[in-house]
Amino acid sequence: MRLVATLLVTLLSMAAANSIWDGVYSKAQSSRGQKLYEAQCLRCHGEALLGGENSPPLVDKDFLEKWQGKSVGSLVELTRKTMPSDGPGKLTRRQCTDIIAYLLSSNGYPSGETELPSDPAVLDEILIQPKK
Ligand code: HEC
Repeated sequence: MRLVATLLVTLLSMAAANSIWDGVYSKAQSSRGQKLYEAQCLRCHGEALLGGENSPPLVDKDFLEKWQGKSVGSLVELTRKTMPSDGPGKLTRRQCTDIIAYLLSSNGYPSGETELPSDPAVLDEILIQPKK
């Protein structure tokens, strides 16, 4: 009985951690991400993440519609492999994960107690969902 209960609690907390609405990143993490964003991304994607001349916005309806149903992991990987577009490949997976935490925060997703881990297997389970 006890084992079943433990299992249930584990499963429930796993399910909870997988929804983008349940606070998958922490405030401290998104602050770290913001600093990285300002240093690495702002010059193209803008202070309010609304994009620039040739760079797309990273917030709001169009962005979320494009990414809807895709994983947070794929956003981290795209950033890690292709951004900054004029010199990619220099940011660590951890740094990219922090920046994506800032992006989630900027898009109105809630923060929580735990940080987004940089483990791709976990990040691939968290799907980007449209605003409620
Ligand atoms: C030199 C300008 C430049 C910098 C700096 C830059 N980007 Fe980009 N970014 C672009 C361009 C241009 C695209 C569109 C690329 C394409 O469509 O192939 C893009 C696309 C993206 C996308 C995909 C957007 C979408 O609509 O799917 C994301 C996410 C992104 N950038 C994140 C970042 C992050 C995070 C950083 C900082 C680490 C960063 N970018 C730095 C120019 C830049």
